[in-house]
Amino acid sequence: MSAAADKKLSAKLTLPDGKEANLPVVVGTEDEHAIDIRSLRNETGFITIDTGYMNTGSTTSAITYLDGEQGVLRYRGYSIEELAEKSNFVETSYLLIYGKLPNTQEREQFGTMLTRHSLIHEDLHHFFAGYPPTSHPMAVLSAMVTSLSAYYPDCLDRNSPTDLHIARLLSKVRTIAAFSYKKSIGQPLMYPKNSLKYCANFLHMMFAVPSEEYVVSPVLEKALNQLLILHADHEQNCSTSTVRMVGSSGANVYAAIAAGILALWGPLHGGANQAVIEMLEEIKLSGGDYKKFVDDVKNKRDNRRLMGFGHRVYKNYDPRAKILKKMCDEVLAHLGIKDPLLELAKGMEEIALKDDYFVSKKLYPNVDFYSGIIYRAMGIPTNMFTVMFALGRLPGWIAHWKEMVEDKDTKIGRPRQVYTGERPRKFVPIDQRT
Ligand code: CMC
Repeated sequence: MSAAADKKLSAKLTLPDGKEANLPVVVGTEDEHAIDIRSLRNETGFITIDTGYMNTGSTTSAITYLDGEQGVLRYRGYSIEELAEKSNFVETSYLLIYGKLPNTQEREQFGTMLTRHSLIHEDLHHFFAGYPPTSHPMAVLSAMVTSLSAYYPDCLDRNSPTDLHIARLLSKVRTIAAFSYKKSIGQPLMYPKNSLKYCANFLHMMFAVPSEEYVVSPVLEKALNQLLILHADHEQNCSTSTVRMVGSSGANVYAAIAAGILALWGPLHGGANQAVIEMLEEIKLSGGDYKKFVDDVKNKRDNRRLMGFGHRVYKNYDPRAKILKKMCDEVLAHLGIKDPLLELAKGMEEIALKDDYFVSKKLYPNVDFYSGIIYRAMGIPTNMFTVMFALGRLPGWIAHWKEMVEDKDTKIGRPRQVYTGERPRKFVPIDQRT
């Protein structure tokens, strides 16, 4: 959606030479105000600088609304709390991608598309065999998603039907994620079962073995639906911005999504769920003294951070973490698991939320603080956690890619810079260099 300037509002910028620039103001539907600086350089010669995009809107978007001060998150106007309670992942994916909740017929058609496209080409199975058992599943997932473009070369044609690529991605990424796990533990691949719904099918592909009947637990199926919904979109985060950036060059949707998967991998982003469990395990192994760990974090010892805490945008409790904390208790109780890591996490949260270091910096638990404990209880290994995040975030990435390609005002993403290197100098032949 293109940015429409409010005709009644403008901002005046006084430049060092005393000249003034009048800049239009864009107002969003939730009354968010932005100064439109697109004409600034042409008119004044100045650019703006904003490392890490702390205060830069890269686009307007009608997909997700986030108020970090109030701890509010909505997809297409629906609150995350209501969606997590009443919707399921496939319906929420449709909502994000197509902008409305599906009616019965749309829901059925969408479900049929996902079922029909759940298999991956048999030749792709050989790719899994090419990776060493120590491979991180995110490396495998990103490479396999890029490879999908080779099997569907029509994606290189920008006019090829988008809905088909969307269904393929949503369905096949789930299959690839489960297959990469099966490969890593040396078990036979379990093919998707058409009779199962999206999340149940994933659990089947992950945990069923050919020699036994596997019955999907409805509690785990619901928990997985909720987990994926909570991860499904988060406006212009690092990976989503990457998807938009790559897509803005005209690269195909599989390439853009694969780039998003790679951006997600880092421990400051989606890799944090794995880092949280590794942090908690380390504390447990060294005797469980979490208070000392929190002290080390406050003293920035070895640049330690309390993983799963803090957020660029939330300066309040992350609404997703609130839901996940409750879900942790429910899932673990259902499975009859007492996980010492949960007690550690709760203890750390309690002291951090009373401590001036965290309070003054407005650091609260984020989505990654409790999600890993639930995945762990479900039997999902730690190195698969970020893959689970990717599976959840997929509809958000797709929705943003679609919104971007459908916006006639989209331009290739190309930030500027302020050069701080050498001034012009003459080349020195090697025998004259000191
Ligand atoms: N533990 C300890 N101190 C922290 C933490 C933390 N988790 N997060 C931020 N700080 C401190 C940081 O040291 C800095 O202190 P100072 O002003 O004294 O230098 C201050 O808070 C501001 O930090 P920042 O790194 O400038 O803030 P940011 O907005 O650039 O970073 C963040 C956001 C998420 C990268 C950061 O909070 C962090 O590293 N958290 C831990 C990793 C994590 O849990 N990431 C998952 C984010 S949620 C999932 C997602 O959407 O990606």
